[in-house]
Amino acid sequence: LEFLPDLSLRNYNTLRLDVRAQWFCRITNEPDLGEAIEFARTRNLPITVLGEGSNVVLLNHLAGLVVQNGIKGVSFDGGRVLAAAGENWHGLVQQAVQRKLGGIENLALIPGTVGAAPIQNIGAYGVELSDIFSSLKAIHSLTGETAEFSASDCQFAYRDSLFKHERHWIVSSIALQLLPDSKTTSHYPTLASYLQDRAITATVESVFHAVSEIRRTRLPDPAVEPNVGSFFKNPLVDAAVAKELRRSFPEMPVFEVVEGCKLSAAWLIDQAGLKGFNIGDICVSEKHALVIINQGDGSPEELVGVIREVQSLVAERYHVDLEVEPQIYE
Ligand code: EPU
Repeated sequence: LEFLPDLSLRNYNTLRLDVRAQWFCRITNEPDLGEAIEFARTRNLPITVLGEGSNVVLLNHLAGLVVQNGIKGVSFDGGRVLAAAGENWHGLVQQAVQRKLGGIENLALIPGTVGAAPIQNIGAYGVELSDIFSSLKAIHSLTGETAEFSASDCQFAYRDSLFKHERHWIVSSIALQLLPDSKTTSHYPTLASYLQDRAITATVESVFHAVSEIRRTRLPDPAVEPNVGSFFKNPLVDAAVAKELRRSFPEMPVFEVVEGCKLSAAWLIDQAGLKGFNIGDICVSEKHALVIINQGDGSPEELVGVIREVQSLVAERYHVDLEVEPQIYE
């Protein structure tokens, strides 16, 4: 295993922020991971794990060892899927759809790796990873201990899990339970109307294609316009707060969920006139207000400036706090 000193991480985060890692290595199997943990332990270095870097915001140089998790391997046993952390998420979705296994077709084209999926409990178009999740295996970066986590151990919530807060666990593989009887989910408004307008019957395959098409048209592609997807969570407020806001802003979308009312962060940002707002090379996408883009040489300082401006304008106008969705490394 090769350990590289002082490496730029520009090519290892999809926002393409040019921060550096004190040490860097890319692992492709579990013994590599053991070696990386040992390297860090003997030198007393903290470990930071990256997948494809599509949900991380690197605001500073990373001290210690940065490990890019490229552990590969996928196996199917009926509807049960076992996938290694370094596999590409969309690749796994494609394999499931080819086998006509239902459950993750709505999560097509979400950037990133399999190992990153449980960390923020990825979700889109009416499905969250937690809906079909069985368990995962992880290794503790300080002790080298291996542990298995059930769905409830993971403490999944909206774009959240134990692993967002307990950063010492390194996911090595995940197990999902998919549905061989091809059931699919198509109630999410944008998806439902896409299918209805074209008189398409909802199947695992048609939902996969519809979601892929919707994402391609609505969301900026990180490979072309560097970004990390939704930058803020959709805020959850009490029903009374939502009602009060609706009085001032009758057009405002409100989604009733078990915990209360979810507002659309994209709508709040858009209506505050922030689409296209920029500081230097960092800007709010013109295409989707929830996405922040690096147009070239954007710096962490410019990004922090844009985040602050969006949060303070939205707070001023709607009295709603926007919480950052990706993982921030300061
Ligand atoms: N909207 C605007 N302006 C925009 C974009 C959207 O006003 O520029 C409004 C529209 O009213 C639209 C509503 O926002 O109907 C919702 O938009 P969209 O369907 O794109 O969903 P979202 O709430 O903005 C969430 C997830 C996405 C996920 C989509 C589809 C969060 C933070 N984001 O976005 O997830 O793909 O739903 O399910 O929950 C991600 O997490 O990185 C991500 C992209």
